[in-house]
Amino acid sequence: KQAPAFRAALIDWYDQNARDLPWRSAPSTYGTVVSEFMLQQTQVKTVLPYFDAWLKKYPNFKQLATASEEQVLKSWEGLGYYSRARNLHKLAKEVSEIPESELPTDSKSWLKFPGVGPYAAAAICSISFDDPSAVVDGNVVRILSRITADESDYKNSTDAAKSYRDLVQELLNPERPGDHNQAMMELGATVCHKQSPNCLLCPVREFCKGYAEGIAEEVPKLAKT
Ligand code: ADE
Repeated sequence: KQAPAFRAALIDWYDQNARDLPWRSAPSTYGTVVSEFMLQQTQVKTVLPYFDAWLKKYPNFKQLATASEEQVLKSWEGLGYYSRARNLHKLAKEVSEIPESELPTDSKSWLKFPGVGPYAAAAICSISFDDPSAVVDGNVVRILSRITADESDYKNSTDAAKSYRDLVQELLNPERPGDHNQAMMELGATVCHKQSPNCLLCPVREFCKGYAEGIAEEVPKLAKT
């Protein structure tokens, strides 16, 4: 019910505080795909130098498609989770066969490309094509569990996971889905930390039940793994 006010507060904060990251200035679909593949399991500060080097070496889908797998894996060296590099390479081969005007723009179609799961599909399509799909990642779920003061262990509860997916989709800003998604991730990375969330800097704390109840830091309660 407070979704419009939440969206407005979040996007204003993002407009004023977003980090100036290379994949945010003049993002091409290719740049967005590369950055989201890299960012899936790796922190922003580690990704930065790799992203720049990658775009110099492989400036578009076609050039990446024609590189050898050995070369591609070599360029990925140090980022880990090499299946991401193999999938990105395969994806480049598939995408470079598609005329640009026929490239799908919705997250459901993107799920069919190698290595693209719900997270990457939503991130890529919202950022690159303004597709209204909400990103659900660890940062986003942590924010939602605090906003709702819901202690449930979403990693071990399909009901909790489903209710977060519904809520995050409801909150999504239909006018700027890509920026909204990035704002949520940014909030999780820079303010709503796992430990010691910085609630005093939070643009949406007036919507946060966890903050109101003074329990933001204690949720979510996750089983030790
Ligand atoms: N993590 C994953 N995608 C991101 C993005 N676009 N900006 C910041 N952090 C991210």
